[in-house]
Amino acid sequence: MATLQLFESTDDAHCESIGPRAFVLRGFALPHADALVAAIADIEARAAFRNMVTPGGFMMSVALTNCGEFGWTTDRRGYRYTREDPETGKPWPVMPDVFSTLASRAASATGFIGFNPDACLVNRYLPGSRLSLHQDRNERDFDAPIVSVSLGMSATFLFGGHTRSDRTAKIPLHHGDVVVWGGVDRLRFHGVMPLKDEPHSVLGSQRINFTFRKAG
Ligand code: SIN
Ligand code: FE2
Repeated sequence: MATLQLFESTDDAHCESIGPRAFVLRGFALPHADALVAAIADIEARAAFRNMVTPGGFMMSVALTNCGEFGWTTDRRGYRYTREDPETGKPWPVMPDVFSTLASRAASATGFIGFNPDACLVNRYLPGSRLSLHQDRNERDFDAPIVSVSLGMSATFLFGGHTRSDRTAKIPLHHGDVVVWGGVDRLRFHGVMPLKDEPHSVLGSQRINFTFRKAG
């Protein structure tokens, strides 16, 4: 994999290219990791992690919650964004400034200027949790990139092509890594392999992933 130092970054992150408009910023979130970890507890207290059911009737092994104006949900009726948490009927917790600032800085470090996310899906993986190949296509427009921040246990991210059967690259993601994909890569299939139980010094036996989107 080519290691590119394409963009100046004040965080001294290493930028790896995984597609024409897809990048891994190694360690980009590390300076903000403590603030991100602290925010998880706040979000969780207002909108608990839950295992949702897919339209096909399967329980997801990844537990999720959201913050921001819109939150991604799924049930037997389909995938969608809502302004309220369906479990409480209350708006999703406000997206902390540290989140939106980090997301927009990661986007601009990879050439996506002016990214202003209105949705942050928070995924919690435990040992054995996996995310099958999918496209992120419930957002209203695909001009904005997806920015994905990893904390805690390491995982293997699968980055495929535009059809499900395309070959996937296996990309190890560690605490503090950020992946950005947009433009011609915006609708590429992606997923996460079953998590191994290799506890992390801060988060223990879990991985938390934040994906920032422009949903509305
Ligand atoms: C996602 O596709 O929503 C999450 C990706 C990840 O956990 O790295
Ligand atoms: Fe996704």
